[in-house]
Amino acid sequence: MVSKPTGILFVCHGNICRSPMAEFCMKDLVSKADCAQRFMIASAATSTEEIFHGIGNPVYPPAVRELSRHGISCKGKRAVHLCRDDYAKYDLIIGMDHNNLRNMRRILGDDPEGKISLLLDFTGSPQDIADPWYTGDFERTWDDILRGCTALLDELLRG
Ligand code: 4NP
Repeated sequence: MVSKPTGILFVCHGNICRSPMAEFCMKDLVSKADCAQRFMIASAATSTEEIFHGIGNPVYPPAVRELSRHGISCKGKRAVHLCRDDYAKYDLIIGMDHNNLRNMRRILGDDPEGKISLLLDFTGSPQDIADPWYTGDFERTWDDILRGCTALLDELLRG
């Protein structure tokens, strides 16, 4: 029997820095672990600041460069807005900071199935991932995202 892939949606404010970095980091990890077919991975924004007339901006160039330093491409990714239907579509909906969490709950409503969390909740040191749009420190963001995604995949593979 082929079971339905686990849907993972990463969420941040603009969907041009942290959540696309998490999306493509996680896609890279599952591909290297030879289990990409078990997951459906995407990312979305709580704001519409990077979406104009329905067309999202591409990933912010410093985030593209940080991913490419790790051999990862995010070609073609454009910002999309989180919508209420995403709650049913995904199994895990993962924000980067408490501000994201507040906005995710506003858009998605209640979380009766316990799908909503923060990425670093999966690690031994749950905390916010600082927004590199303001800090300019994309390397630090990458380190946090890699730590979070590695812990998340470990948990998912342990089942
Ligand atoms: P992100 O970073 O939420 O990690 O994608 C930001 C991107 C854009 C803006 C803020 C944060 N903005 O204000 O446009």
